[in-house]
Amino acid sequence: MPVDFSSMQSVVVLTGAGISAESGLSTFRLKDGLWDNHAVDDVATPEGFLRNPALVHQFYNARRRQLSSVVPNLAHATLATFERNFTGEFLLVTQNIDDLHDRAGSQNLIHMHGELLKSRCIACRRIRPVAMDMTPDSLCPDCGQQGALRPDVVWFEEMPIGLEQIYSALACCDLFVSIGTSGNVYPAAGFFQEARRAGAQTVELNLDPGEHASGFDICLYGPATKLVPDFFQL
Ligand code: OAD
Repeated sequence: MPVDFSSMQSVVVLTGAGISAESGLSTFRLKDGLWDNHAVDDVATPEGFLRNPALVHQFYNARRRQLSSVVPNLAHATLATFERNFTGEFLLVTQNIDDLHDRAGSQNLIHMHGELLKSRCIACRRIRPVAMDMTPDSLCPDCGQQGALRPDVVWFEEMPIGLEQIYSALACCDLFVSIGTSGNVYPAAGFFQEARRAGAQTVELNLDPGEHASGFDICLYGPATKLVPDFFQL
C-alpha cells in the first residue's frame, strides 16, 4: 500500500469517465469516445441547446437510457466501502453524470458536472428527478412551460456544481486522488494543484498518464477495477 491512511484526517477523490469505462460507459477522449462521434459545440454548450434542442435531448436521452443496462464496478464499490470505514473526512467529487457512484453507495458525493437523472427548467429553475426521455415538446411539471426542460448537466461555459465545498475540502485535505480522468477540463484538472498547495499528497490512478501526470507525487497505471481496490485498503 503506497500511503498510510491511519495518519490521515481528510481524503478527497476526483473521478472521471475512466472509472465507469469497465461498466460499459464510453469515455470522452479515448478512441471512439463520445467526442469522436459528437461535436462538443452541438451537444455540450448552451448555444448548441438553443440552436438544436432536439439533437441535445437525443444525445442525453440515449445516455440516460444506457444507465439501465450498466452496473457499478469494483472501483465504484471500493470507494463506497472505503468511505464507510474511513474514520476521517471523505469527499468524492465526480465529473461523471452517470449514477454509478450513487448506486454503489457513496454518500458524500458531488456531481460537479450534473446528473443525467435530473432535469432543470430554464423558466422556473426547478430541478427534478427524470427517468424518461425529454424532447423540445416536454412540459415542465412545475410551471407548465413547453420547451424549457433541459438535462441538469453542466455544459462548457457554465459553472460546475459544488465548487465552494470542493475548494474548502481541497484546502485542508491530506490526500488527493484523481481516478480515470484525462485532466483536460478545468476547474477539475487544477484540483491536484489546490491540494498540493495545502500540503496534501497527490495520486493519479489512470489507464494512461493524464495531462498533468508529472505534477502528481504518485502515479499508478492500469484499469480502475484493479488499481482502486489495491490502493484503497484500510
Ligand atoms: P476523458 O475521456 O477525457 O478521459 C478518460 C480517462 O480515463 C483517460 O485518461 C483514460 O486513460 C482513462 N481510462 C479509460 N479507461 C480506464 C479504465 N478502465 N480504468 C482507469 N482509467 C481509464 O474523460 P474525463 O477526464 O472524465 O465534461 O473528461 C472530463 C470532462 O470532459 C467530462 O466530465 C465531460 C468532458 O467534456 C463535460 O461534458 C462538461
